[in-house]
Amino acid sequence: MTHHDRLLIIDFGSQVTQLIARRLRELNVYCEIHPYNRVDDAFLTAFAPKAIIFSGGPASVFAEGAPMPPASAFTAAVPILGICYGQQVMMHCLGGKVERGHGTAEFGRAYVTPTALTHPILSGWFPPEDGPLAREQVWMSHGDHVSEIAPGFSVYGTSPNAPFAITADPSRHFYAVQFHPEVHHTPKGAQLYENFVRLAGFKGDWTMGAYREEAIAKIRQQVGDAKVICGLSGGVDSSVAAVLIHEAIGDQLTCVFVDHGLLRLGEAEQVVTMFRDTYNIPLIHADESALFLGALEGVSDPEVKRKTIGRLFIDVFQKHAHEVGGATFLAQGTLYPDVIESVSFSGGPSVTIKSHHNVGGLPEKMGLKLVEPLRELFKDEVRALGRELGLPEPFVKRHPFPGPGLAIRCPGEITTEKLEILRRADAVYIDQIRKHGLYDEIWQAFAAILPMKTVGVMGDGRTYDYALALRAVTSVDGMTADYYPFTHDFLGETATRIIQEVPGINRVFYDCTSKPPGTIELE
Ligand code: XMP
Repeated sequence: MTHHDRLLIIDFGSQVTQLIARRLRELNVYCEIHPYNRVDDAFLTAFAPKAIIFSGGPASVFAEGAPMPPASAFTAAVPILGICYGQQVMMHCLGGKVERGHGTAEFGRAYVTPTALTHPILSGWFPPEDGPLAREQVWMSHGDHVSEIAPGFSVYGTSPNAPFAITADPSRHFYAVQFHPEVHHTPKGAQLYENFVRLAGFKGDWTMGAYREEAIAKIRQQVGDAKVICGLSGGVDSSVAAVLIHEAIGDQLTCVFVDHGLLRLGEAEQVVTMFRDTYNIPLIHADESALFLGALEGVSDPEVKRKTIGRLFIDVFQKHAHEVGGATFLAQGTLYPDVIESVSFSGGPSVTIKSHHNVGGLPEKMGLKLVEPLRELFKDEVRALGRELGLPEPFVKRHPFPGPGLAIRCPGEITTEKLEILRRADAVYIDQIRKHGLYDEIWQAFAAILPMKTVGVMGDGRTYDYALALRAVTSVDGMTADYYPFTHDFLGETATRIIQEVPGINRVFYDCTSKPPGTIELE
């Protein structure tokens, strides 16, 4: 994508660096996040950014080996915006002063008031009609603070604990703020980014139409006349990748849809129909439910389940890939959050919470090269690209669905009886959510069948049936999540419908756990 204006975000390890990229992408600005320790002078020259943003970060400029930008960032004659630690590092490098604590730490909401100076970087901030009462809410999170600004800088906004909340050196186009404009709690933060990219001369040419054209050209160039296989899960990412690649190379692409018998009600038919009938994409529908369910019989340990499914998935995929005859590429719907190399200050390897099922081991084992046309995109951008490619709206907006499917929504042993009950109950639940117009507000919703039976009474008879858990969460990326606050009316109505319409369930629970401490799926 070299002919787009490019903005470089140097990551100093803030928890919210990804949000900076999102704010910029919303402004149709192409940007990439790179960790500070990978950005040296040579990298900067090769990347040739039109502007640079220094993210926040947990370090202190006083610490030994404190993260620093390369010196050439300041001599590249491009605009720079420093955020929080990014501001401190700018002042530190350019001749200002940073101090530790002394009661000036600020965490959370603060209000910034203007000084006598104005600058277009603050266009839309401090509306004149607010007069002397003008102030803007911002979100602060800092221990250290700037105590003396660098030569050339002036102050444009102050807060009680951050006298240098907004600073700028207009002649060099260096801007630096103590707060985080990328977060929701700085309501006019997006405006500040817009002002910055305008001042930096960005044209806002990062559109999905342009992306589509360029991605197609890139795929053709990479693949030539070779054959490509693509594992389809029916989720948005792999579907969009498949449709895009098909547009680029037509019948050189074959998709493999592995039905492991752990899909939702009607899911296999929906996916197969859409790909065969709407897109006319060659598709192998591998019905391997007997194989998977056979191997999972009697297995109740969540990790054993996941590993069994992962292993079989690779076997099946390999078997069917041979039918395609000489494929040398494997297409994957890898997204940008998966490839961002984030700065880790915690050291050591992170704990494995769950073995996520993916096709990571596959390309090497099969000697395949990867085609990953969505590597630069966030999830919502993939959805926008899906729309651009004409994928049906309900498909584009589908909630994520995990690779191991219903296996991880059926804690304990998996049986065909339980799966059948779960499919029907889940369909009623999702139907309720759609009928109440809540589907698009919720990031992910599903039912899980619990490994216990309880006593109930229906009509005049005793029942002894399974209990069902309902889960619905809001989230941005699945890394953290909040449970969705349904009304009691909704929950009551849904429980009644499920018990009436799905034999085998006589009790329904709603899961009010956020993530952390819970995870989204039950296993
Ligand atoms: P957890 O349960 O880890 O889930 O909080 C976070 C998100 O990831 C999905 N998920 C998976 N997706 N393969 C996938 O493709 C997996 O093995 C897998 N496990 C969980 C889950 O549905 C949620 O959206």
